[in-house]
Amino acid sequence: MDFLEVVSTQRAIRRFVTEPVSDDVVRQVLDAAVRAPSGGNRQPWRFIVVRDSDLKRRLGRLYGECGDELIRSAPFYTRALQDPAADPAAARMMKSSRYLVEHFEEVPVFIVACMLSDGQPLSFTQAASIYPAVQNIALAARNLGLGTTITTIHRYRHNEIRDLLGVPRDAAEIAAMIPMGYPAGKFGAGPRKPATEVSFLNRWGTPL
Ligand SMILES: Cc1cc2nc3c(=O)[nH]c(=O)nc-3n(C[C@H](O)[C@H](O)[C@H](O)COP(=O)(O)O)c2cc1C
Repeated sequence: MDFLEVVSTQRAIRRFVTEPVSDDVVRQVLDAAVRAPSGGNRQPWRFIVVRDSDLKRRLGRLYGECGDELIRSAPFYTRALQDPAADPAAARMMKSSRYLVEHFEEVPVFIVACMLSDGQPLSFTQAASIYPAVQNIALAARNLGLGTTITTIHRYRHNEIRDLLGVPRDAAEIAAMIPMGYPAGKFGAGPRKPATEVSFLNRWGTPL
């Protein structure tokens, strides 16, 4: 696909058809992930490919608790659910997020992006070093006709989810859980502010 078309039509996909995702496709996506840059080229990532149904069910239970916690604790998301007319785009996003919470175990495959931590709090650069790889996953998947969503609400049950996946608490963090499959809906451009609205020339506030 044309690069700009990949970039501009890659968006959060949370509903998937049941068509399986082959190991070969997963491998191609992971090959794209490891081409990403990282601070000091430390490549501090590990990826867990989750296909096992029982594991997905157990993760789904914890992920559901995370979704409930998000609604309880984050006013933006609570409002999006309670007053959809106030911000229809946020309400649509929230409805789609809830769909994933409720259908977690039906997702064909998850890629869980982990980063090495030495058990110490991560510096800004360390923490930032995983997301280029995560975005490469999303873009490579889109190029192959697969939908993904970067998700991070697992952090509400981080330790329990780490334990379930055998991620050593003293050596790694889970940065994102990425559901992946062939989309039930369509790709397309998500709502975004134009670059001119969010860019400055030389100094903050000077229009470009
Ligand atoms: C750092 C990050 C964390 C995110 N966490 C979640 C999440 O936990 N659950 C979820 O359903 N979507 C999550 N998303 C997806 C966003 O909601 C989505 O990218 C955004 O609403 C834009 O969607 P669109 O591309 O379809 O317009 C996350 C995205 C990013 C970049």
